[in-house]
Amino acid sequence: MTGEITMIQLGLGGVGQALTHQVLACQAALEQRYGFALCYRALVDRSGALVAEQSLDRATIQAALDAKQQGATLATLPQAQRGPINLADMLPDHPIIIVDVTAADGMETLLTAAVAAGHRIVLANKRPLTAGLDAFQALTEHGATRYEATVGAGLPVISALQALLDGGDVVRSIEASMSGTLGYLCTALEEGRPLSAAVRIAHENGWTEPDPRDDLSGADVARKALILARTCGLAWEMNDVPGEPWFPPPMAVVSVNEFMQRVGELDADMAGRVTAARAKGMALRYAAVMEPAGASVGLRELPLEHPLATLRGTDNLFSFTTDRYTNQPLVVRGPGAGVDVTAAGVLGDIVATARELSERHRA
Ligand SMILES: NC(=O)c1ccc[n+]([C@@H]2O[C@H](COP(=O)([O-])OP(=O)(O)OC[C@H]3O[C@@H](n4cnc5c(N)ncnc54)[C@H](OP(=O)(O)O)[C@@H]3O)[C@@H](O)[C@H]2O)c1
Repeated sequence: MTGEITMIQLGLGGVGQALTHQVLACQAALEQRYGFALCYRALVDRSGALVAEQSLDRATIQAALDAKQQGATLATLPQAQRGPINLADMLPDHPIIIVDVTAADGMETLLTAAVAAGHRIVLANKRPLTAGLDAFQALTEHGATRYEATVGAGLPVISALQALLDGGDVVRSIEASMSGTLGYLCTALEEGRPLSAAVRIAHENGWTEPDPRDDLSGADVARKALILARTCGLAWEMNDVPGEPWFPPPMAVVSVNEFMQRVGELDADMAGRVTAARAKGMALRYAAVMEPAGASVGLRELPLEHPLATLRGTDNLFSFTTDRYTNQPLVVRGPGAGVDVTAAGVLGDIVATARELSERHRA
């Protein structure tokens, strides 16, 4: 007999839509392989939600995807609940999976309450894990939350790190270049393009956050560094991983439009830094180094043969030096951005969680 594994998806943007397409595409294969059907109880965006008593049918899910693809909100669909949703009202007595593919602040409150009620969480949203340490611990206690896609998009970074830790290894340092956006900008600068032109292209193509300063401030990289550090058991807060910004403080307080108009003011300085590095046989990369003693996150001059210096475009690289991987670190490298690979990382976490819940049903 086929059991149903139910999920609620918060967010139906780039990653969320790609994820829903992937879920629909793999349902039959999962049923055949593992004997459970992955079902949506609700799809949620900022405007409202589609909610079913049991599970949303395929036609309703497709209507939601069509609406979002055309730029409409879920609230415009006739069967939608409009306005902010109350997640607690949607949660059944038995454990389900709540998937957060928003970029929203403050989700940790409702997600920790769901964990306390026995539900399971899958995240692409970094923010619930980078709020207070209490929230991180409440979410991740007893493996209640999976979060592979929060770092390195679809690359198996968190799972590699967890495998090292579960095997009793001790992580001495993690060196990484983990922003697809900043990687793209470093490559553009190396090719002689002005920073402002590269930022505008990245912004127009949706490769940056809506406010590109979320990337250029180093905050996005700092959040990922904090997630890696906390996964290693370090009791760090956001101020333990200060990211070096690419712009001076006065540009932090202007509107996004004004920032985009003034971003050209940064061109000469950044071009100069790249030229100075090249004159020394070095490349400029936005790198993070995390050790138990502390972290550094910022622009670094690296020898051309350094693995991080060989990265191009949006590729990421993570290098784990541990007690067992000492002379030759364990390296994970590959595309570190993109909605399809990110959604695939989320789906992998959903399926792993669903398999556990399914085993528990059977027991
Ligand atoms: N794109 C990538 O390559 C990538 C890689 C790794 C991780 N991520 C992470 O994945 C997450 C999603 O990224 P994205 O590119 O898909 O972002 P996005 O296109 O901006 O989509 C965000 C979605 O979340 C919804 N949302 C925002 N606040 C909400 C709330 N309070 N309640 C319910 N829904 C809410 C938005 O609703 P509306 O549609 O109504 O606006 C939208 O559907 C982010 O946390 C991002 O950092 C992305």
